[in-house]
Amino acid sequence: MGYFRDNIESVKGYEPGFQPFASLEDRPKEAEVVKLNTNENPYPPSPRVMEALAGVSGEQLRRYPDPVGEEFRRAAGEVNGVPADFIMCCNGGDDLLTIAFRAFCDENRAVGYPIPTYSLYPVLAKLQNCRVIEVLYDEEFNLPAKLAGTGAALTIVCNPNAPSGSFVSVDELAGLADELTGVLLIDEAYVDYAEKNCTELAKEFDNVIVLRSMSKGYSLAGIRFGYAIAQPGLIAGLMKVKDSYNIDVVAIAAATAAIKDQDYFKENVAKVKAERTRLAEQLRNLGFDAMKSSTNFILAKCTNAKAAEIYEKLTRRNIYIRYFAYPQLEDKLRITVGTAEQNDKLLRALKEILSE
Ligand SMILES: Cc1ncc(COP(=O)(O)O)c(C=O)c1O
Repeated sequence: MGYFRDNIESVKGYEPGFQPFASLEDRPKEAEVVKLNTNENPYPPSPRVMEALAGVSGEQLRRYPDPVGEEFRRAAGEVNGVPADFIMCCNGGDDLLTIAFRAFCDENRAVGYPIPTYSLYPVLAKLQNCRVIEVLYDEEFNLPAKLAGTGAALTIVCNPNAPSGSFVSVDELAGLADELTGVLLIDEAYVDYAEKNCTELAKEFDNVIVLRSMSKGYSLAGIRFGYAIAQPGLIAGLMKVKDSYNIDVVAIAAATAAIKDQDYFKENVAKVKAERTRLAEQLRNLGFDAMKSSTNFILAKCTNAKAAEIYEKLTRRNIYIRYFAYPQLEDKLRITVGTAEQNDKLLRALKEILSE
């Protein structure tokens, strides 16, 4: 008999996108690499974040952190127009997903979500040993009507969706929240790049949790900070499940400074959106069918060559993007929007590859 529970033995584990600068020796090569594979922000965080980090004292490090991150809760509450007790701080959005699976799912309580979507959901389901009800999106990534009737204890809709970049209307999600008997978690990791968000649904419905990440619009993927927005009853239940100290002093300082600097945030997001428009146009000029995106990445269908081959050839040129050998995605590439310079390098390489 193996040491692990059967479901742990058999799960493959989540495969994060390749991080080429894992070791310090790799650092000098950083300039040669175009990294557009994990939807990071190409710009640095607000200068206020660096000031906040410099201001963290040894005394603060010696002590345990505030277990709930009250300072951040207040700041995030203000930005989102909700009281602080509607907010729960997390060690990245992924931490909230783990907490939600542990809180709502088990052998008798299923999870439901439309696919293709974030590939972490099935892994967490396997770890929790709960049944998975996957409902296929259509080619336009419209919300599948069947999702409302699965009977799942937890339904997750990633909105805007990864890896499609598509956006389901707030009204449709309100309708879904209303019909569901269980909890609806709306994964808004990429919502900073969309035109609307579902904060109002978290206020209105007692079964809605909105997930937010500081990794994308706020350029803090390295810090690991995210948060939940939900009614205090749900927040109190989720708090029972989280690690006592799931966010640390350094992360609280950085994330609070970042969310308070809304001017910098808005400018940062606007730059990425402008590049998104340009990159999508250029990809279309090269013959790719680039889907409309409400995120900081573009899903591009390859009409002239095999997606997997283009991906391989780009990787050999030190240009990293993402390819998923999954239904509806085999003929597509997911490309993070980079700086103008990075995007130009990618476009030049694609042009060469397509003319080979
Ligand atoms: C759809 C989706 N949800 C949640 C996350 C979690 O983000 P983080 O843990 O960096 O806040 C990611 C990260 O890429 C994501 O793509």
